[in-house]
Amino acid sequence: MTPSSLPVDPFDLVIFGGTGDLAVRKLLPALFHRYLAGQIRAGSRVVGVAREPLDDEGYRALVREALGKAADDTPEQRDAFLALVGYRALDARRDEGWDGLADLLGERPDNIRVFYLSTSPELFVDICERLGRQGLNQGKARVVLEKPIGRDLASANKINDDVGRVFAESQTYRIDHYLGKETVQNLLALRFGNALFEPLWNAGHIDHVQITVAETLGLGRRAGYYDRAGALRDMVQNHMLQLLCMVAMEPPASLAPDAVRDEKLKVLRALRPIDAGNAAQLTVRGQYRAGASEGQGVPGYLEELDGGKSDTETFVALKAEIGNWRWAGVPFYLRTGKRLPERVSEIVVAFKPVPHSIFEGSAGPLGQNRLVLRLQPDEGVKLWLTIKDPGPGGLRLRHVPLDMSFAEAFGVQQPDAYERLILDVVRGNPTLFMRRDEVEAAWRWAGPILAAWAASGEPPRPYTAGSWGPSAAVALIERDGRTWHEDEG
Ligand code: BG6
Repeated sequence: MTPSSLPVDPFDLVIFGGTGDLAVRKLLPALFHRYLAGQIRAGSRVVGVAREPLDDEGYRALVREALGKAADDTPEQRDAFLALVGYRALDARRDEGWDGLADLLGERPDNIRVFYLSTSPELFVDICERLGRQGLNQGKARVVLEKPIGRDLASANKINDDVGRVFAESQTYRIDHYLGKETVQNLLALRFGNALFEPLWNAGHIDHVQITVAETLGLGRRAGYYDRAGALRDMVQNHMLQLLCMVAMEPPASLAPDAVRDEKLKVLRALRPIDAGNAAQLTVRGQYRAGASEGQGVPGYLEELDGGKSDTETFVALKAEIGNWRWAGVPFYLRTGKRLPERVSEIVVAFKPVPHSIFEGSAGPLGQNRLVLRLQPDEGVKLWLTIKDPGPGGLRLRHVPLDMSFAEAFGVQQPDAYERLILDVVRGNPTLFMRRDEVEAAWRWAGPILAAWAASGEPPRPYTAGSWGPSAAVALIERDGRTWHEDEG
């Protein structure tokens, strides 16, 4: 048995927002997979909490449906997992019912307690205060805060202060599920487990970096949340900046939580400000109109909002720069959006050209060395190299990838990010979670962009669902003589 599949100590996991989209689509299936892997011991419990007036059986029926057919399990295993699941109907803003939750948890005083706040951030403080009043923050208790923490620096500070009155920083796990993705962790292995890359990992050898997180999905059921957030708050302030940090940070002295987080923080603090003075040159925001997705006609964002009016962006592209010795002058192009042509998340590290070509023009152009880390859908790494086209007839050059698909190489389905992260909380390992100062540094950089957009009074640029965003996003990179990466093979 590898260390990663060792059982964890018995725990009680209380999911606030237990009937919500994240719990049903991600958290409960993730727990089930870890259960099947033998990591969740008898004696552990999962308690869904929400306002809906369900009982344990009603909730189990909902969870049973959420587990779907994905797992390769037996009916007995499914029943055994469901036997660990219970439910409590509670309103975060009212006092009734909390004694019952405390009694339930009190039945197993030695269990690790994890309170997973999969709710709107406006409820974080109400929930924590009530947990505190019940004394549920004592001992081996941890709280998990889903992103986004707040909607700007001031509201994030307020949440962190108020939560901090109940749970110490060491008990607080701010989750960014991108940090739990295999390829993101693989960045650590690739950068710091190999001698090859690190000497080249700087402005002397790297031309630019691209980070793309593209989704085909539209607004779906999340209008209430999404329209108040938008792509910058939903994806850039957290997931994309965390990816940028993993690419750009200095080698930490170890994988100890603070060693890694200190280095990420330095990157966030070194990001060059984008504000009203330069936002028009460095950022593009868009909103999708009706178009097509995966071969089907789909409505535009405003239609999905029931014809409402909204300037919320569903697409962002921007050019970030890190003002330090390692990265001076190396642009980091970031883009993310809903209703793009395909679901793909990848990091592209593009290297500088050779200083001098010895080849004749007839050999063809020299391709750019690119290291492409694919986060999804088919996780893997490609290193684009120039080689000689095989065969006789002179020397012609070809641009080909050294291609490693993790699924093919290891023959295993990659675990979902939440599987790793939930168990890290139980184990008490915060390395892959955001520390308070990181969240604040990220808002300090993102806030002025939001302010600049608001002050400009300009609406987001329209793009057709199923396209790669507004044409200005292409211009953003092409005016620097570069192009968004397209997989040629
Ligand atoms: C979430 C965002 O954090 O990440 C969603 O709120 C987005 O809008 C999702 O769809 C993307 O996650 P993944 O793992 O599917 O890439």
